[in-house]
Amino acid sequence: MSTQKVKITFSGSGRQIDLPVIEGTLGPEAIDTRSLSSQGVLTYDPGFLSTASCASNITFIDGDAGLLYYRGYPIEQLAEHSDFLEVAYLLSFGELPTSEQKAAFVEKIGHQTMVHDQMANFFHGFRRDAHPMAVMVGVVGAMSAFYRHSADPFDPAQRESAALRLLAKVPTIAAWSYKYNIGEPFMYPQNRFSYSENFLHMMFATPCEDYQPNPILARALDRIFILHADHEQNASSSTVRVAGSSGANPFACIAAGIACLWGPLHGGANEATLKMLEQIGDASRIGEFIKRAKDKADSFRLMGFGHRVYKNMDPRAAIMRQTCHEVLNELGLNDDPLFNLALELEKIALEDEYFIDKKLYPNVDFYSGIVMRAMGIPNSMFTAIFALARTAGWVAQWKEMIASPEHRIARPRQLYTGATRRDFVTIDRRH
Ligand code: ACO
Repeated sequence: MSTQKVKITFSGSGRQIDLPVIEGTLGPEAIDTRSLSSQGVLTYDPGFLSTASCASNITFIDGDAGLLYYRGYPIEQLAEHSDFLEVAYLLSFGELPTSEQKAAFVEKIGHQTMVHDQMANFFHGFRRDAHPMAVMVGVVGAMSAFYRHSADPFDPAQRESAALRLLAKVPTIAAWSYKYNIGEPFMYPQNRFSYSENFLHMMFATPCEDYQPNPILARALDRIFILHADHEQNASSSTVRVAGSSGANPFACIAAGIACLWGPLHGGANEATLKMLEQIGDASRIGEFIKRAKDKADSFRLMGFGHRVYKNMDPRAAIMRQTCHEVLNELGLNDDPLFNLALELEKIALEDEYFIDKKLYPNVDFYSGIVMRAMGIPNSMFTAIFALARTAGWVAQWKEMIASPEHRIARPRQLYTGATRRDFVTIDRRH
C-alpha cells in the first residue's frame, strides 16, 4: 500500500473524496475506488481500459516495453528452455516444478487424458460441419455433467481435481472435434508421447497406420501453447473469473472462456488472419486492403495487427516469427505463397504512417496461424488450439480468484442513459 492519496474535487459543489493509492510489485499504481459506490459515485470505464479488476500474482505485461512475464519469468526464457506442462505447473502453483514434481505432474495429467466414453455421444449430436469451437463450448461445458466430484469450487481438493482434468482432457476434446469434422475415428491419447506430441497424434494418427510425431513440429506446437498460456486479465480470462465469481461449476466457467475467446477480436484473430491473407490473394492487392483498413467507413481491419496492451511490440510475436521460419524451413515451405504474402504485408504495414501513428504491430496470431497451417492444421482449428493452451491460464486465474480473501461475486454497475421515470399507457386494444 502506498502512502499516497488521490483527492477528487467536484468542480460544482466543491465536494472532496480522498482515495488511497495501491502499488503492485511492477506496473502502474492503482487508485483504490472501492469506497466510491457507498459515497454515491461510480467510475466509468467501458471496455475496462483503465480498470484493474483484481490483484493477481500470475502474469505481468508491460505493453510499452513489450514485456511478458509468467510468475516473474520472461516469456522468451520460458519459450526457449521450458515446456508447456512446466509452464502450466508454474502458472497454477507459482513456482517451476522440480524434476520430481514435474514427473508426478506429467503422470497425473497422463492418467486423466481420456474423456468419459459416454462423452463421445455429445460429438455425434453435432452437425458434421460444426465449427470446432462450437463443439468445444458444448463438450467442455458438458464435462460438468460427468465430473461431479470436481465441481465444488470452494473445496481446494476439488478445485485441483477440476484444474487437472481440464488441462488433461481439453486437448482430447479439441482433437476429437477435428476428427468428427473430417469423419475419422477418434484417436485415444497415448501417454508415451509428450503433451504436444500426443495432441498431434490425436489430430493426425489413424488406427490404420503407425504415427510418429515430427519432433520439430511438436516443439513448435509446444511453443505456441507456451506463448498462449496466459495473458493476465484479457477478455476470456476475465470472463472465466466473472463466471466463476458466483461459485459456478468450473467446467461451465471454462466453457464461458472458450465462448469469449472465439471472437475475431480475441482468439479468433489467427483464423481471421489466414482468411484475410486468402482474401488478399496476391501481393499486388495489399495496397487496396491497407487502404480499406484505414477507411473509417469500412469495417475491415488488418487481422493480426494491433493489441489492446502492446503498443510497440508483442514479445510473443517476435518468438512466433522465429518459430515460423524454423517450421517452414523444416517443411521446405519457404516459398509458400501465403507466407510470402504475409511477410510482404507485414513489411508494407510496418512502413505505413497510419500503422506507425496508431502503434499497430503484428501480434502473435499473425504468425501462429501461418505456423499451424504449415503443420497441416486447418484454419478452423486455430482458435481451438489457442483455447487448449489458454486453459492453463484460465484454471490458474480461476483458482487464484476463488482462493483470494478478496473474492466477491463480480457485479459491475452502470451509467444509466435510458428513459427517466414515466407512466404506463394502455394501448388501444380495439384494433
Ligand atoms: N487495422 C486497422 N486499424 C486498426 C486495427 C487494425 N487491425 N486495430 C486498431 N485499429 C485502429 C482503430 O480503428 C482505432 O482507430 P481510431 O483511433 O482512428 O479510432 C485505433 O487503431 C485504436 O484501435 P481500438 O480498436 O480502439 O483499440 P483496442 O485496444 O480497443 O483494440 C484490437 C485492440 C481489438 C486487438 C484491435 O487492434 C483489432 O481489432 N485488431 C485486429 C484483430 C486482432 O488481431 N486481434 C488479436 C488480438 S491478440 C489476441 O487476442 C491474442
